[in-house]
Parts: sequence; structure tokens; C-alpha cells
Amino acid sequence: MNISDIPAEFAPVSMARSWPEGLVIRAERPEDVDGLTVLQGLPKFREGTLRLPYPRRKDVEARVSQSSPDKVSLVGYLGEKLVAAAGFTRFAGRRGHAASLGMGVHDDYSGRGIGQAMLGELIEIAENWMNIHRLELTVFADNDPAVRLYQKLGFEIEGTLRDFAFRSGAFVDAYAMARLRE
Ligand SMILES: CC(C)(COP(=O)(O)OP(=O)(O)OC[C@H]1O[C@@H](n2cnc3c(N)ncnc32)[C@H](O)[C@@H]1OP(=O)(O)O)[C@@H](O)C(=O)NCCC(=O)NCCS
Repeated sequence: MNISDIPAEFAPVSMARSWPEGLVIRAERPEDVDGLTVLQGLPKFREGTLRLPYPRRKDVEARVSQSSPDKVSLVGYLGEKLVAAAGFTRFAGRRGHAASLGMGVHDDYSGRGIGQAMLGELIEIAENWMNIHRLELTVFADNDPAVRLYQKLGFEIEGTLRDFAFRSGAFVDAYAMARLRE
């Protein structure tokens, strides 16, 4: 599918040149809760994030229902299947120029350019529509695919957070990464 074939309400704001065939990115909606709960329970998704096994639907529903002008939450679909989720939240007060970002792609759909498309949209919205100067995130230091994706789109490693989280029986380091708008 070409960008010009996508209905206007779903047209990518980043005007990404390569867009995975059939991918539709749109704002998160209440009917995404089941797909998001499945996504969060997948092994690779859990490995790369702070999610616990057996996520509860009602917890996902509670988060989805929290809307704020400082929060952007996107989902990616291929046909009827929810294949990705990504978002950021702007900090308050004197950190209002910065936002914290998180994302993940369905285990069975990695390596197809979906993560890059989702991140490209977030960067465009943050920098060119919400005037966010600093996008920041944490990523497990051994999550090579994610670190490379972030570096490819202009994020830099700023430091190592030691024993940042507990994962599968062991503590794991994380990198603090950020992208500063030029
Ligand atoms: C990390 C993640 C978001 C990447 O998304 P993706 O859709 O698989 O990545 P893409 O296909 O868009 O790849 C974009 C770039 O990421 C990097 N990348 C992706 N997979 C990679 C891999 N297996 N090894 C090395 N680099 C990889 C590459 O730079 C790639 O660009 P290239 O194809 O030009 O080399 C996805 O694998 C994921 O959600 N993992 C589980 C949850 C998670 O770790 N979330 C991040 C939390 S911080």
C-alpha cells in the first residue's frame, strides 16, 4: 500500500518513505483493550518491557481510559490484528519540554519496519506538533533490536542504570536514551 492509498484520517504525519504494507496507525481506542492485553502478555514483549506475566484486562482498560492532552497513545494494525502500541507522556512544569516514550511490537510481527513506523510517528507528533524538545526512554541494555532502532532514529545513550529492573530471575541494566530536537 502506498501512503496515498491510506484514508486521510490515518495518513502518517511523518510522511515516512517506507511504510510496511497494510499498516494502519491510529489513536488508541477503548476497543483496543483486548488486543493490547494480548500484546502485553507476549514473551518477547514482556522481555523488553516492564510488563508482568498474565496482564489483567481491567488494568489495561484503566490505563486506556486515562486521557490527557499531554499523552499520545498510538496503536498499529495489520487488518484486524493489533500489532503494535507506542506512546509518550509529556512531563509537567519545568520539564514540560520533555516526554517519556515507550513502545512495543507484537512478537510475530517484528523485523518488518513496524517499530520504525510507529516511532517515526511519535517523533513527528512530539517535535512538530507538541513542541517537545527532549524525548527520553529507558531500554534494557541487552535489547539490541530496540537500542539499534532508537539509535537509527536519533536517540543517544546517556548513561547506564544499573540493576534497573528484575527480569526472569535476575537484575538487568538499562540505558537511559534521549533524542534532542535540533
Ligand atoms: C524493539 C522493537 C520495538 C523493534 O521493532 P521492529 O518492528 O521489530 O523493528 P523494525 O523492523 O521497524 O526495525 C527498525 C530498525 O530497528 C533495528 N532492528 C530491528 N530488529 C533488529 C534486530 N533483530 N537486530 C538488530 N537491529 C534490529 C534496525 O536498526 C532496524 O533498521 P534496519 O531494518 O534498517 O536495519 C520490537 O522488536 C519490540 O517491540 N520488541 C519487544 C518489546 C520491546 O523490546 N520494546 C522496546 C522497549 S524499550
